[in-house]
Amino acid sequence: MPQWVPIIILGIGNVGRALTRQIVDLRALHTERLRARLEIVALADSDGAIFQPGGLQDAELDAILRAKAQGARLRDGELGAPLGDLLGLVDVAVDDGAIVVDLTASDTTIPALESALDQGYGAVTANKLPLAADLATYRRLTDHRRFRWEATVGAGLPVIATLQNLILTGDEVIRIEGALSGTLGFLASQLEAGAPFSAAVREAKQRGYTEPDPRQDLGGLDAARKALILGRMSGLPLELSDVVIESLYPAAMNSLTVDEFLDALPALDQQYAQRVAEAKATGLTLRYAAEVSESGARVGFQALPPDHRLARVRSSDSIVIFQTARYNENPLVVSGRGAGAVNTAAGVLGDILSLIA
Ligand SMILES: NC(=O)c1ccc[n+]([C@@H]2O[C@H](COP(=O)([O-])OP(=O)(O)OC[C@H]3O[C@@H](n4cnc5c(N)ncnc54)[C@H](OP(=O)(O)O)[C@@H]3O)[C@@H](O)[C@H]2O)c1
Repeated sequence: MPQWVPIIILGIGNVGRALTRQIVDLRALHTERLRARLEIVALADSDGAIFQPGGLQDAELDAILRAKAQGARLRDGELGAPLGDLLGLVDVAVDDGAIVVDLTASDTTIPALESALDQGYGAVTANKLPLAADLATYRRLTDHRRFRWEATVGAGLPVIATLQNLILTGDEVIRIEGALSGTLGFLASQLEAGAPFSAAVREAKQRGYTEPDPRQDLGGLDAARKALILGRMSGLPLELSDVVIESLYPAAMNSLTVDEFLDALPALDQQYAQRVAEAKATGLTLRYAAEVSESGARVGFQALPPDHRLARVRSSDSIVIFQTARYNENPLVVSGRGAGAVNTAAGVLGDILSLIA
């Protein structure tokens, strides 16, 4: 009999749906190779949940995925109910081997993750917010041996596993550099190609590369949270407020609506055209980069030589460069597509599989 692995998924958006599809599609492979059967026993969205202690049938999951993709709410479906709270959902103890998966973009999952881990469940997150909360919370979560967070940095790329291995095998991190935001990578490439800043932002938004409110990307906070996670893993006792963040727009623009913000962007065009021109005049390329070293963490534009690895990365890809005692002259590099629901879900699934004894 294959091992029965109950899975509780918090958040059934782009990544949650991609993960559910992968779990269903890969059942035969997991049963054959791992002697394990991943059973989705609970799902939650922001105000509803489904709980089936025996596991949801594939046909039921198909119907849920179709409905969610069309904007339905779990609470309105045949099997759904209003979400009491996430803690309650996790606490309906299923089994010691259960795994709770956080695919929300909310820090309200922290108590549920902690409770799950305290009960001996595994927990996996693609959501950065719990790990970017205060340092004490970060430590409580990551001190658990059954907690995984690979997809928080670089989606499916093995960034976290690589750093864990370096640290646990006694290597010493000297510097980590990265291009960690596909959105800002795209923007930098557009600026370099001569596009005005305002047009580059509009284009990124039209292509669906930005959040509905592009300020969430342009403020640098997402990249800063990733740098914070890498810094904390490297042993730096950082809070998010310690990360130096270059926002690509002035704080005064925070009070505008999204449309007003987009309309006001041309006021920044001249300033960015000048920065690109100055970089080009000295043969350099602008990239929005993250840097973590003993002296702290920062994210912002850097002018780099064109043959620098960060400058060469394809615009929407991610790259992380680990310079360590062992990989000093020739650093260890992880790069490739670092976003997208399918790749992120694969990163999460890898974490789940790593928790199966
Ligand atoms: N997409 C990527 O390329 C990518 C890459 C790496 C990491 N991530 C991370 O993965 C996570 C999920 O991304 P996504 O693209 O799937 O986001 P999404 O499409 O916005 O989905 C988020 C899901 O979480 C649910 N949710 C929000 N707050 C909740 C709460 N308090 N309790 C329970 N459920 C809640 C939402 O519910 P409703 O359905 O009711 O709105 C939705 O189902 C995010 O943290 C993101 O940063 C994404």
